[in-house]
Formats: sequence, C-alpha cells, structure tokens
Amino acid sequence: MSDRWTLLQLLRWMTDYFTEKGIDNPRLDAELLLVHTLNLDRVGLYLNYDRPLVAAELDTIRPLLKRRGQREPLQYLLGVTEFWSLEFNVTPAVLIPRADSEILVEEALARADSSGALLDVGTGSGAIVISLASELSNWQLTGFDISPAALEIAQQNIDKNRVAEKVQLVQGDLAELPTQQYDLIVSNPPYIDRQEWDGLMPEVRCFEPQLALLAENGGLKCYQQLAEQAGHRLKTHGWLLVEIGYEQADAVKALFSNAGLKNIFVREDYSGHPRVVGGQA
Ligand SMILES: C[S@@+](CC[C@H](N)C(=O)[O-])C[C@H]1O[C@@H](n2cnc3c(N)ncnc32)[C@H](O)[C@@H]1O
Repeated sequence: MSDRWTLLQLLRWMTDYFTEKGIDNPRLDAELLLVHTLNLDRVGLYLNYDRPLVAAELDTIRPLLKRRGQREPLQYLLGVTEFWSLEFNVTPAVLIPRADSEILVEEALARADSSGALLDVGTGSGAIVISLASELSNWQLTGFDISPAALEIAQQNIDKNRVAEKVQLVQGDLAELPTQQYDLIVSNPPYIDRQEWDGLMPEVRCFEPQLALLAENGGLKCYQQLAEQAGHRLKTHGWLLVEIGYEQADAVKALFSNAGLKNIFVREDYSGHPRVVGGQA
C-alpha cells in the first residue's frame, strides 16, 4: 500500500487483495471494513469515492486488512454482527451467530404461547435467547453455557439489547441442565465431528472456539444428552428444538424418538437443507 489513496482506489486494492487471499465475498468485506473504520454508512462510502485518505486512517486500516487477509473473520475485526435485525458484540470467545440459526428462532416463536419459560442451551453470544426475548413479552428466558467467557459476552448483549428483565444467564454443563421445567428448550449445540475439522474454512477452524463447534460421538453427543433429559426438563407438551448439521437429521430424529419425544419434525433452511429438528414431550 502506498501513502496516497482515494477511497475508491483503496476499495479496489482491498478487493483484489482479499480475492487473492481466497476470501468469499471480497468486495463486500472490503466495503464493510472501510465503512466501519471510517465511520461511514455504505451510501456515504459510495458518495465519497474521490475523498483522499489521511495517514491516520490508513494506519487504522492497515492492520485490519492484514488480519482479514490472514482469514480472521470480519465480525471479530469489527467486534459486532447482526442477527434477527439486532446488533450483537462478538469476540473469539463466542461463535459468530449464523443467519441459518434464525430458523430455530422462528420455530420457537411458532410454538410459544402468551407466557412461559424457555431455556437456550449453549447460548454463546446470546443471539438466540436475546432475539426470542425481543419478541416474547411474558416469558422468562434463560441462557445456559459452559463457558464463562461466552457468558460475559452474552451479558453485554443482554444489556445492549435491553432485555435484562427477561433473560438470566446460568453457567453449567449441558450434561446436567437446570432442574426447572420449561415450555421450550432450544439449542444450537456443538455438532461437528472431529474428522470434519480439517475441511472447515480457515475462518472457522483457526479463529472460532473449538468448544462451540466440536462434539463427540460423530457430532451427536449433545443431541443425545439433550434428548435424554428432555422428559424431565420439559412440561407436558413442551418442545425440544435443536439446530443440526444438514446430514444429521435422521440420527437426531432417532435420538428424539428413542427418548420418547413425539410429533418429531424436521425444518429445512432457506437453502433446502435440514436445519432444525423438534420433538414434543
Ligand atoms: C454452536 S455454539 C452456539 C452459540 C449460539 N447459541 C449461537 O447459535 O450462535 C455452541 C455453544 O455451546 C457451548 N457449549 C459447548 N459445550 C457445552 C456444554 N457441555 N454445556 C453447555 N454449553 C456448552 C459453547 O460454549 C458455545 O457457546
């Protein structure tokens, strides 16, 4: 990078650099990085293409550019991401919430009466439980996670999205869920088999927490543990709803069925992949 740049020149240079580094959406990432560091919106960026950058701006952008080139996820560089049209803080202590997980939110909302109690197992950034809290008025919601570092971020996001009166956080291992009874238990647990690890994108493999991703028994261990406890932790007619990897639907349905859950269903995501399995107590 030389020292004399207009915004458009830099945008083009960054797009080429990200393309060379094998990044999926090079132009979009370049735009978002610029918009964030220069405190513009995207229209502001397009209207300022001819604006020269000052040295201090280039000094801020250079290290971020390098880190993204090394495949660090954009969301960790920006420190925030969007889910369910809300803003969430993210750090490497938490999985970056994925748009596909909004399917789980939709399925939970479709089964939520006017009041009740909900448990989100493996809450991470709190994206799922906070999104649900933003939609449900008379509910008590609990975010549960084994990672204290993740729960710190979830607490920041609860405060940021002003749902503290509805959402509490509990630390623990999903091998032993809180002893309360719930109307809904939702979970996007770790579900990747260790054998798949090397095939993951560098953004995931090198930067997201392993604790959030890997599960034993071919990726099925958490589903097994959740299904086994569902009968004791769900009220009659309560639902267990889990996000799954797209090749896990049959195995998870079998686990739910063996655990005595009824009305088992599979919901596909908008790409047509099985994404959520649900079962009723
Ligand atoms: C796939 S992430 C999901 C995060 C968030 N719910 C989301 O959808 O973006 C799984 C979460 O489960 C947590 N976790 C992993 N093992 C756990 C366990 N044994 N008990 C409770 N939580 C666990 C991880 O810390 C991580 O936050």
